Amino acid sequence: MSVLKLYEYPEPILRQKCEKVSKVDDALRRFLDDMLETMYVDKGCGLAAPQVGCTKRIIVVDPNPSDEDLSARQPLHLINPEIIWHSDETVLFNEGCLSLPDQRAEVERFEKVRVHYTDYNGDEQEILANDLLAIILQHEIDHLDGILYIDHLSRLKRSRLLNKLDKYRNECKKTKSAQ
Ligand code: NI
Repeated sequence: MSVLKLYEYPEPILRQKCEKVSKVDDALRRFLDDMLETMYVDKGCGLAAPQVGCTKRIIVVDPNPSDEDLSARQPLHLINPEIIWHSDETVLFNEGCLSLPDQRAEVERFEKVRVHYTDYNGDEQEILANDLLAIILQHEIDHLDGILYIDHLSRLKRSRLLNKLDKYRNECKKTKSAQ
């Protein structure tokens, strides 16, 4: 397995609409393994293909990406995931994204979603998700349509967050050049 390069905001690939996968083969499974590895290394609980430079409709998620207890992990690979039902109720959650490092903001999501997808073996599956998993799935499926969580914020909140991201990146550069 290998760790893939992460594409960060404002890379144009993060804004592309991804294409459906037509065949689940070994090459695709290797890519899914690499995506999952990259997600764990970068301490995320979800990752979408465009974040690692691929415009296919693929996501990996794990609502419990524990480093201490590997058996507690709950990895899921979802190919061509599609939300086929959602609850009327919504919840607010403080979301982050590996493509916008060190930032978080509260986003409104559906409390429950039912998702249809193709799994690692190429079989059709459905999952009814609530709590954190439902939020992660909505965030990652958004990525496949070029949507980032900051698009759900007001213009003011979004520009504040992007200013903080700039500051954070400048601090990282300074720290690097001082070493
Ligand atoms: Ni994200």
